[in-house]
Order: sequence, then C-alpha cells, then structure tokens
Amino acid sequence: MKIRSTTDEDLDVYVDTVHAAFGHFPETPVEGGGLWWSALEMERCLLALAADGRPVGTAGAYGFELTLPGEAVVPVSGVTSVGVLPSHRRQGVLSAMMRHQLGDVRARGEFLAVLLASEAPIYGRFGYGPATYTARLTVPRHRAALAVPRARGLAGAPAAGAGDGSVEVLRRDECGEILEEVYDRYRRTQPGALSRPHRWWDLRAGQPPISPAPRYIAVHRDADGVPDGYASYAIESGTLTVDETISTDDTVFTALARFALEHDLVSQVVFRHVPPEHPLRRQLADFRAGEVGGYTDWLWVRLLDIPGALAARGWFMDGELVLDVEDPFLGERGRYLLTVRDGRADCVPTDREPDLSLDVGDLGSVYLGGTAPSTLVRAGHIRAHRPGAAALADVLFRAERSPHCLHWF
Ligand SMILES: CC(C)(COP(=O)(O)OP(=O)(O)OC[C@H]1O[C@@H](n2cnc3c(N)ncnc32)[C@H](O)[C@@H]1OP(=O)(O)O)[C@@H](O)C(=O)NCCC(=O)NCCS
Repeated sequence: MKIRSTTDEDLDVYVDTVHAAFGHFPETPVEGGGLWWSALEMERCLLALAADGRPVGTAGAYGFELTLPGEAVVPVSGVTSVGVLPSHRRQGVLSAMMRHQLGDVRARGEFLAVLLASEAPIYGRFGYGPATYTARLTVPRHRAALAVPRARGLAGAPAAGAGDGSVEVLRRDECGEILEEVYDRYRRTQPGALSRPHRWWDLRAGQPPISPAPRYIAVHRDADGVPDGYASYAIESGTLTVDETISTDDTVFTALARFALEHDLVSQVVFRHVPPEHPLRRQLADFRAGEVGGYTDWLWVRLLDIPGALAARGWFMDGELVLDVEDPFLGERGRYLLTVRDGRADCVPTDREPDLSLDVGDLGSVYLGGTAPSTLVRAGHIRAHRPGAAALADVLFRAERSPHCLHWF
C-alpha cells in the first residue's frame, strides 16, 4: 500500500472514495450540509492506494485556527473525511494514514490536530482524546419563561438599561457578511472554538447556517445598530430548532434565547450545540423546564509538541506539576515540569519524580480545560503519584469558561 498527497485534480476520485467508505451517495445541498467537499483543501489530503493503484482510503485536513484558554489563537489541522473502503478494512490502512498525516502536521509546524469522531473507539489509539462536549437543550414553550436575574437586585448591579439592543429577523440569504463577522468575533474569545475560513461561507460548505438550507436568522444589534449576535433557526411541526446562537456577550445570548422562547405558534424550542453547563438552563424560571439531551463529545485533540502546546495556552492559577507523558502510537515519551506563573506556563524536560503519569490522548482531553484530570484519575486512565496532585491539576488546567466547539467539519 502507498500513501500520497493529493492535488485539486484528485478531487473527484477523493470524494468518490470518501462516499464509498461512508456508504453515502453525494449529498444534495439540503439540510445537514450538502456540498461539504467544496471546501476541501486538496493539498492537505491523503489517498491510500492498493498495490494495483486503486484508491482505498482517504484522510484530509483543513487549516483552521483554534482558540485556546486565555484567548490564544493557534493554527491547527482539522482532520476530516477519514475513510477506508469496506473491502480493505482492518488491514492497517487507517493506521498508516494517521501516521503519515501526523508527520505532515508536525512538518507544517502545527503542534496539535483536532477532529470530530464518527465513532468514539477509533481515535484514542492514535493519541486523540475528547476535549469538548456539546448538548441540546429542549424547552416546552409553555414553561419557557425566563427568571428576573437575581444579581440585578444586588449591590453594585449595573443600571437598568445596560445591554439594550434590538433583534431583527432576516432570511439567511439577506445576511451578507453579518454571520461571518459575528462568528469570527465570537470564536476568538471562546476556548475550543474553531475559525470558519472565508471560503466556507463563500461556498456555503458546511452545516446550517453556512449551508444553503433555508433558515431564518435573528440578528441582534447593539444600541448603535452594530450586529453583535445571531441565532439561526427553522420551524417545523411546531418545533423551533436553533442551529446555533452566537455572541461574545451573555446578555446578547439571553436576548436571542428570549426571542426564540417567546416565538408564537411553536410548542417547543430546541437549542442545538450548547455547552452542557450553559447558563441558559439556570435562567429559566422553572429549572426543570430545560431538558438536556444529546450530550456528546465534539472536538478531539491530539498534541504533537507538548511543551509548545502547554506554553501556548493561557493559565489562571499559579502552580507546578510534573507530567510523565506516553505517546505509544508515535513511540515517544517525555517527562515535563510545568510551571505556571502570572498566567503563563513554562514547560521543560525534567527528571523530577512525576505528579501524574498519563497518555498523550488524556493530555489532549484535559488540555482545553473541558475534562477534569481528576475524573480521568478516578476512571483509572491517569495515574496520580501523590495525594492532591489530581486536585491541583484540576485547578491548573481549568479554563476561564468551558471550552466549546460547534463548527462541523
Ligand atoms: C474507521 C475506519 C477508517 C478504520 O479503518 P481501518 O483501515 O479498518 O483501520 P485499521 O485497520 O488501521 O485499524 C487500526 C485499529 O483500529 C481498530 N479500529 C478501526 N476502526 C474501528 C472502529 N470503527 N471501532 C473500533 N475499533 C476500530 C482496528 O480494529 C485496529 O485495531 P488493532 O490495531 O488492535 O488491530 C474504517 O472502518 C471506515 O472507513 N469506517 C467508515 C467511515 C468512518 O467512520 N470514518 C471515520 C470518520 S471520523
């Protein structure tokens, strides 16, 4: 078997191979993201070829930016369209492509790769760990009242009127660059969020609201009329489904949620892609009215340069930890002293006794602050060598807010 990089000329054969591997014919531009392949970056894709030259496997990557805790924005590879023909499975084709691809990512100078996994058991062996999570919040319309925020009655609360703005409903095709601009501002402040390159919006490649699927857009504008948030939604059979609610400001998010929850002629409102701990549930006057469902992993993270990755993110507590990290897939191992002072980390090789021993995939899981190291200690995946080490790691790795990603790729 041979693995080679592709060019634009390989697009058709690449897409055909992906579809045969997944067992789907090419999508039409409807719900769920037709034309996804139009944004492929063919210079970052790989084809695996059988001895007779026939393509049997695909593995691609997009060049994205990922926001780390502390609003650090770094380039990453977003691994995509991974597939092996059913006739050639369990013969090591994927393993060979993963090895080749991780080498390419390193050669490009990127210190991490991310992906969305079709099945959870696939990617742990290649050093990926689930790092962000997402859920769906369903609220029956008749129990949708929002509570008056209690902090408003507390000392030091802002004067009434703060957060004034307006919501306007537009059709998706009327929104021009508003969505792209608002999303871009949002993703730079949200740990775990990925960029959506301009060509995605331009080509309408992806899931709603990027795709050509019909959608209404509730656009929020600040008191000066500048768009600062949006919610993309559709109504079917009495259910108003919000694809995504995007804003850098919690009060704007609440205004958009209120808009959806107060919509006439619907029996329930479903907010897709909300972080599992989102404050919206707490804002409902009836806490039990919001039902959290569809809880799932979203972004998986694979670290390739551990000191580089740890030094790149922001930190919120001072402390020191010695991490002993194993990377069985790449046959690497390292022990690092992580020292955090004033929001920055220094990470250097050490021969000090470790506080924690862990697999590189588990480090990927905790890296963005979305998985508590102590949970993985309790699960038997991370080994803590002294009392208090897991609790210290929990405090150190926590981000300013839960990491979340809602970009599908
Ligand atoms: C997932 C897929 C790419 C695996 O390709 P493959 O060439 O069969 O994988 P490999 O032969 O390299 O397998 C490597 C190891 O992973 C395991 N593995 C592979 N796919 C697995 C799966 N879906 N579930 C659990 N284990 C899996 C293999 O058993 C093997 O384990 P071993 O090393 O202990 O023997 C292929 O099954 C496929 O195309 N599936 C449909 C499309 C898909 O889901 N793609 C992933 C998109 S995110």
